[in-house]
Amino acid sequence: MQTLDRTLSLIDALKARRLRLAALVDFPVLLWSGQSSPRNFRANTFPFRASSHFLYFTGLPLENAVIRLEDGNLILFMDEASPASALWHGETPTRDEIAGAIGADEAYPLSELEKHESDESSADSNKWQINPSKWLQDTATIGVQDPRTHADQCVLYQRSILRDVSRIKGIDLELAKAVVSLRLTHDELALAELRKAATVSIVAHKAGMAATQNARVEAEIRAAMEGVIIANDMMCAYTSIVTVHGEVLHNNQYSHSIQPGDLLLADMGAEATSGWASDITRTWPVSGKFSSTQRSLYDVVLAAHDACIAAIHPGVEYRDLHLLAARTIAAGLVDLGILCGSVDALVERDAYALFFPHGVGHLLGLDVHDMEDLGDLAGYESGRSRSDRFGLNYLRLDRPLQAGMVVTIEPGFYQVPAILHDSERRSRYQDVVNWDRLAQFADVRGIRIEDDVLVTETGSEVLTAALPTDAQAIEQLVLG
Ligand code: GLY
Ligand code: MN
Repeated sequence: MQTLDRTLSLIDALKARRLRLAALVDFPVLLWSGQSSPRNFRANTFPFRASSHFLYFTGLPLENAVIRLEDGNLILFMDEASPASALWHGETPTRDEIAGAIGADEAYPLSELEKHESDESSADSNKWQINPSKWLQDTATIGVQDPRTHADQCVLYQRSILRDVSRIKGIDLELAKAVVSLRLTHDELALAELRKAATVSIVAHKAGMAATQNARVEAEIRAAMEGVIIANDMMCAYTSIVTVHGEVLHNNQYSHSIQPGDLLLADMGAEATSGWASDITRTWPVSGKFSSTQRSLYDVVLAAHDACIAAIHPGVEYRDLHLLAARTIAAGLVDLGILCGSVDALVERDAYALFFPHGVGHLLGLDVHDMEDLGDLAGYESGRSRSDRFGLNYLRLDRPLQAGMVVTIEPGFYQVPAILHDSERRSRYQDVVNWDRLAQFADVRGIRIEDDVLVTETGSEVLTAALPTDAQAIEQLVLG
């Protein structure tokens, strides 16, 4: 039987989140957890992942549940498991047990959400007499990702619940902004869970390095890495990238054979059972020894990674960290003879983005790319919007850092054919790229180095620091 192992301090921490929300909004809130999608028949589903906004206030991945938050109180709506469910899934906790585990003040079946009768006089016999057609007008929500539940939300509200944050308005927008302001920085409960996820991811990356020399295809290294996550009863926080073709930024193919001269790029991380994520990338030589060209470029990327982490401090603009990475990479490529010209001019003209075409990182929390279901509401400070510049368009975070935020720092170097063979770009940057020199680095397709960094009052703490980044230490881990 599934057990609910909850401590009072956990319930207090969840209650504190609800009280912080109540201090920000003066209207009730309904949040849906979502439900799993069938693969073919109803009981054969894709893995369920509860909505992160729901998880933030309940701490439990309940399926097909709704919470109503008001003045720091929580009312849970969910159905008891059917008698047939015990046959297939075993005994599950009752609604009241779950309510106790999340510190709910009241708990009702889902059908109560649809009650249309609100009559003060009849309220005595049932504590929860509601009139959706009236009170839903004043109750805010956030559109859930899962389409079936989203349809339920729209039916209940009798209006479309927009998921495109650029179009939401009124109290739904106020709620989204309040949730962003709460989830931007992390409390002790969240940090403890983020650390758990980071610890398992570090073991997974070490297992991947150790498995490389005996692996024939990428899938075998992926299996060694994800095996660690599964053995810890966790899930992957996103689809793992484990590839010798790191120039494909989100490469989700694992069938390439592995050659001794290749670099292996692994971007994967665990998600704790509570939903909190980690996101680590390392790049290592399949042979256990970087070639001199691989090592030169690895050290350029590492210099950018280290410079950004050293600069992290409350008040620092994340965009400036991106530009610091850009400058460091441009300077390194000038030293190697790949780029030429002044570093300032190369950054000004976005020439570095030929080789580093993404942002230096993003928020991390209950999701990798935390809160990107809300578009750029979380990533971009109010009044700012995405630049259309080649070097800045994929910048996912443009805010001053605050103590308690967790961000990734993930600079990279890639030789992306679609960029480097693009005639318009080739002619625009003809005068600053030494293409003959670049050709000497053909054994580098993609390098990325990524860590998860907590902003502290005095600087930063790298949550993933126990996994080395130094080239020699990486080689040692591969050689075993
Ligand atoms: N871990 C994948 C990404 O940050 O986009
Ligand atoms: Mn990342």
